[in-house]
Amino acid sequence: MGKHVVAAVDEIPPGGRKIIDVAGRSIGIFNLDGEFFALRNSCPHQGGELCQGTISGFLSSAGPGDYRYSRQGEILRCPWHGWEFDIRTGQSWFDPRRVRVRRYNVTLQPIHPGADCPPADLEQGPYVAETYPVTVERRYVVVEVPG
Ligand code: FES
Repeated sequence: MGKHVVAAVDEIPPGGRKIIDVAGRSIGIFNLDGEFFALRNSCPHQGGELCQGTISGFLSSAGPGDYRYSRQGEILRCPWHGWEFDIRTGQSWFDPRRVRVRRYNVTLQPIHPGADCPPADLEQGPYVAETYPVTVERRYVVVEVPG
């Protein structure tokens, strides 16, 4: 399991996303009100670029004339054929038990001025921490990718 620095925290605002290539995979990083999630940018249906899709909420109905819209900003719709996935869990909404998109663990880590950049337990990723001034402490988004 390799840990990769993929972005500075303030680079992906709430409601925002960043799609990066890391360890040979395309992965989308999403910020849901300060919580970060990572999904593989490949739809389980036919491999569409899922993380480029529209982000919306969940529309449910208890019966005719009753509609509830919830979880705004947490549902991702594949741009190819419209399958929908929960950004938090990777679960699909049409067949939650059988179909889900690969998700990855995400942590936020501070990198202190004067520390190794990147820290020793992190692998070199596409994001180069050295491009930021080391006099400013920033937090970084770190994603864990197998292999
Ligand atoms: S490839 Fe995503 S819905 Fe078909």
